[in-house]
Amino acid sequence: MTDDSPLTNEWLARWREGRIGFHRDTPHPALSHHWPELGVPAGTKVLVPLCGKSLDMRWLAERGHPVLGLELSLEAIEQFTAEGGGEVLRFRQGDFEVWRQGSIELWGGDFFHFHIEQAAEIGAFYDRAALIALPEATRQRYAFHLAQLIPPGARGLLISLVRAPGDDRGPPYSVDAREVIRLLGPNFELTHLEDGELEENGWQESVWSLVRRGPRGVEKVGTDNA
Ligand SMILES: C[S@@+](CC[C@H](N)C(=O)[O-])C[C@H]1O[C@@H](n2cnc3c(N)ncnc32)[C@H](O)[C@@H]1O
Repeated sequence: MTDDSPLTNEWLARWREGRIGFHRDTPHPALSHHWPELGVPAGTKVLVPLCGKSLDMRWLAERGHPVLGLELSLEAIEQFTAEGGGEVLRFRQGDFEVWRQGSIELWGGDFFHFHIEQAAEIGAFYDRAALIALPEATRQRYAFHLAQLIPPGARGLLISLVRAPGDDRGPPYSVDAREVIRLLGPNFELTHLEDGELEENGWQESVWSLVRRGPRGVEKVGTDNA
């Protein structure tokens, strides 16, 4: 995906026009419920891909985790830092414009341009509405890229979403257990933790814990017809 791809432009337009129904005003309950079970020590830096202006990042920071969020929309980042208050330091890192506020760094740019050298200190990750924000072909690329950034043994939490059969528009896209396992199973040990409540619109979240398999190196992610 290039910076002026239709997908990129659609996300930037959503933020510009305030079409951000995915944003929650409170931290996600599955994060507060399940993160402590992962046993990630305080001080471990958490990667939050496709982070929006999620308050989950503040929740993690308040528990002693430096956070590195990656987000296409500088408008989202601006809103996050303005709503948080506190001094903001801005600087450039390669393709990214970085905004640092306290122990949270938001890297403005494309997740797929973020490289392993820039991920040196990352020791955990959190994906809520990142995998499911991407269309099918890009999800495969996402799973592969995420695995490249995460060191062996590192843990993470994934919140996926399944939509009612036949309701396959997106985003958010429907990503069922079979696809989660197919995409992430080659490089992560996966544990299905729970399914959320079935919502009126037929959507249901599912929560997974992941541990990056080692040693370093990335297994190709398979396709259904591979
Ligand atoms: C469905 S939202 C989820 C945001 C956040 N995780 C949350 O829980 O509120 C997906 C976000 O990913 C961002 N995004 C989409 N493609 C991206 C990419 N390639 N690199 C970085 N951010 C991206 C969008 O701008 C949007 O804010």
